[in-house]
Order: sequence, then structure tokens, then C-alpha cells
Amino acid sequence: MTARIGVLFVCLGNICRSPLAKFVFADLVTRRRVADRFAIDSCGTGAWHAGEGADPRTEAVARKYGLDVAHRARQLRPHVDFDHFHYLIGMDLDNHRRLLETGAPSDRVFLLRSFDPELAGRPHHEIIVPDPYYGGEDGFEKMYHMVRAGCEGLLEHALARHG
Ligand code: 4NP
Repeated sequence: MTARIGVLFVCLGNICRSPLAKFVFADLVTRRRVADRFAIDSCGTGAWHAGEGADPRTEAVARKYGLDVAHRARQLRPHVDFDHFHYLIGMDLDNHRRLLETGAPSDRVFLLRSFDPELAGRPHHEIIVPDPYYGGEDGFEKMYHMVRAGCEGLLEHALARHG
């Protein structure tokens, strides 16, 4: 396990949701001056987009909110990633299930929006970040707000838990 607090954001293609979560979380830890305490990455359960940058619509919404959009998509590496990251954060039920099916320790698998304090106690199916890939631009704006609230809650949780 990394000496830093390891956070891996996981979606399907690794070009829309999990890269945006990585951009948002990296920005939050930098502003909070705790970037050196974290190791942050993202990946997809699928390999179709490996090697690509983020989707242009993800880049557009990220730039709108002043985020750096450096990204190279990669697929989840089940055992390597599970050994390395403390937090394995799925965006939807499919990502969450896939992490567990491929052997991730269940106490390290989460849904991103479970850290949004406004959604505390909601069942999993109500707190997914929906796949925006086949939808319109407004899906990307909505995704940003969901991801942002989840990342803020995750940062508070991780700092409280890891001192
Ligand atoms: P993501 O979105 O999982 O948020 O990166 C998707 C990107 C690509 C595809 C599906 C979802 N695809 O089918 O290629």
C-alpha cells in the first residue's frame, strides 16, 4: 500500500466520470495544501479508450471550473491497484460490482456520492453518477456537481480518518 493516502476513481471508459473526479480531487487537495499526502489516479473497468485523453465534453466542463485536464486513460489492474490504493471509488453500481467481482477488499470499495453529506443514508441505487457518454452537454454539467460534492466529502472523510 502506498505511504500516501491512495485514492483510485473508477468508471467504465475512464474518459468521462473518473477523470473528472481525479481533476476535481487533485484541485481540492492542492487548495487545501495536502496534495503531498495523497496518491490520486483513475481507471476504467473497460479498455476501449486506453491511452486516450479525457472526453472533450469532460475537458470542457473541467476547464470551465479551472481544472487541469492532464489525463491518459487506462484499464483497472485488479491486483496491482487493490494492493496500492486505500480508496477504490466507483461511480455507479456496475463499477462497484466489478471491483468486488475482481477481488477488491470490500472495506475499501465505495460509491463516490456516498461521501456527499447531503445523501447520507440513501440506498446505493439513488447515489450513482450516471454515465453521461451518450447524453447531451447538460449531463456533463450535472456530473460535475455530483462529482464535486462527492469529492469534497471524500476529502473530509480521508483527512479525518488518516489524521
Ligand atoms: P465513463 O463514460 O465510464 O464515465 O468514462 C463512458 C465512456 C465511454 C463508454 C462508456 C462510458 N463507451 O462505451 O465507450
